Amino acid sequence: MPGVAGETVCVTGAGGYIASWLVKLLLARGYTVHGTVRDLGEKKTGHLRSLENASENLKLFKADLLDYEAMTAAIAGCQGVFHVASPVPSANLTDPEVEVVRPAVVGTKNVLEAASAAKVKRVVVVSSIVAVDINPKGWPTDKIKDENSWSDVEFCRNNEEWYSVSKITAEKAAHEYAQRTGLDVVTLNPAVVFGPLLQPTVNASSQFLIYFLKGGPDRMRDKLWHIVDVRDTADALLLLYEAPEASGRHICAPHIITAQNLRELLKSTYPEYPHISKDSIDDMEHPAPMTTDKLKKLGWSCRSLEETIADTVEFCHQSGFLDDVEGAEPWRFPPLYNKI
Ligand SMILES: NC(=O)c1ccc[n+]([C@@H]2O[C@H](COP(=O)([O-])OP(=O)(O)OC[C@H]3O[C@@H](n4cnc5c(N)ncnc54)[C@H](OP(=O)(O)O)[C@@H]3O)[C@@H](O)[C@H]2O)c1
Repeated sequence: MPGVAGETVCVTGAGGYIASWLVKLLLARGYTVHGTVRDLGEKKTGHLRSLENASENLKLFKADLLDYEAMTAAIAGCQGVFHVASPVPSANLTDPEVEVVRPAVVGTKNVLEAASAAKVKRVVVVSSIVAVDINPKGWPTDKIKDENSWSDVEFCRNNEEWYSVSKITAEKAAHEYAQRTGLDVVTLNPAVVFGPLLQPTVNASSQFLIYFLKGGPDRMRDKLWHIVDVRDTADALLLLYEAPEASGRHICAPHIITAQNLRELLKSTYPEYPHISKDSIDDMEHPAPMTTDKLKKLGWSCRSLEETIADTVEFCHQSGFLDDVEGAEPWRFPPLYNKI
């Protein structure tokens, strides 16, 4: 049966935004963690090494997703794997297949094969709602989307939405691998993740909120945004590992807000920031939202959107991310969030 504190588990991409909170949670719960990183240097791993219990129970391995041998070494001796690493582009791409799609898809296969070789009990893979809700073929626009809904990969490819292509293809490959080999694989499909950062650099989804507060030249559409807290995302990943009854996909998208309403919420709560303008958000029709009921039925609960936003803004303020830095490049809306 999966999931007992005291086990050894591997977390891929351990130094990233979501993975760092997961490593912190696992160490606090008594797990020993094998964390993979691409760079063992202080800037990428200092925040992990200073976590509670890290000196005894955290071992870091240098491993790129495309390096099967390195992944095998990190996963050896583990009872479980959390596959979190995947390219999350925060700037425009020059070669999307090489920079995003291949590492996501081949990387997932490498991790799953290494997990099979180590005979792990369960692999929890981080997918995304971009694999659920983008123009799913044959899905009525007024029907709430659940785990049966798959984004249309060809539509995403035609729109050059490479991150979505990478997440859809990698998640499909993970479920196909599980079916073919019998490896126990479950996936989590988080919404846009906000919340305080443990790592020193700003990841793509945190840039999104900073852009709303600081304003800038980019236009966006008045989409329906699904949002989840990074700490609740870490809780969901651990729950999926520990709950024997977890299986298949799990949408993790508890909060729903339109871009205009998010702008208004931020503007009324934090009037001291410049904010994006009302006119920079173009109207669009809102399709039906997604449900997080499957995850909630496993016992998952989460913070309010207001608490998540308050903690994120406070953290970004304290860290100086919201300051005007002379000579710095102006903030851009992350390209990842500005296409379809
Ligand atoms: N944040 C969100 O809103 C959100 C929503 C849904 C799903 N997700 C998913 O959550 C996971 C983590 O994302 P995040 O938000 O925490 O972003 P992040 O901080 O950018 O984390 C991405 C991680 O993947 C690693 N990585 C990328 N390419 C790699 C490669 N070729 N080999 C090894 N490691 C590689 C990065 O390592 P380096 O530090 O070395 O670059 C980093 O640790 C991803 O699978 C993402 O698709 C995120």
